[in-house]
Amino acid sequence: MSLPPKIEVFFDAPTIADRVGTLGRQITEAYRGKDLVVVAVLKGSFIFLADLVRQIDLPFTIDFLGVSSYGDLTQSSGVVRFTSDLSRPIEGKDVLLIEDIVDTGLTMQFLLANLDTRGPASVSVCTLLHKQARAKVPIPLSFVGFEVEDRFLVGYGLDHAEQYRHLPYIGIVVPQD
Ligand code: PRP
Repeated sequence: MSLPPKIEVFFDAPTIADRVGTLGRQITEAYRGKDLVVVAVLKGSFIFLADLVRQIDLPFTIDFLGVSSYGDLTQSSGVVRFTSDLSRPIEGKDVLLIEDIVDTGLTMQFLLANLDTRGPASVSVCTLLHKQARAKVPIPLSFVGFEVEDRFLVGYGLDHAEQYRHLPYIGIVVPQD
């Protein structure tokens, strides 16, 4: 019988908190005086969102949308469907999309094209992690937490087969024999 995988810490909780604080301050400066709606892309962004919004010192609203990509366990196919939609229109609003990770960029490409049809004043992207080496399409990213190499990361919202999302740090799954 194989042992459960070990998780090696990649970004510890204080490192993440420090970076999220910086992003929050940058977003506060960028959106002063704007009609900001922060939109979390579920599920992976839920912990990042919760920490980030507490670092943005402005009036704004929060909404959620869910997407799922058809593909295998580790690679998105680019064919994306909504599992849940926004609760309010975004016409005339300055939308900031919050992602845990932009990998191939295909999910974000789909979302940006879809949201654009709804008449927002602007749509920008804030992602905690960006895997530049895996990009298949160019995505304009306004706020990036960490550029990361092509490793399978879990924790702080990110899953492997829906496990590990609750970990307070970001780690790498190390299979055990
Ligand atoms: C992850 C992540 C992004 C997408 C990025 O979501 O949250 O939405 O993959 O990949 P891409 O840039 O290659 O399109 P996932 O499909 O794992 O769903 P989850 O957020 O529910 O974990």
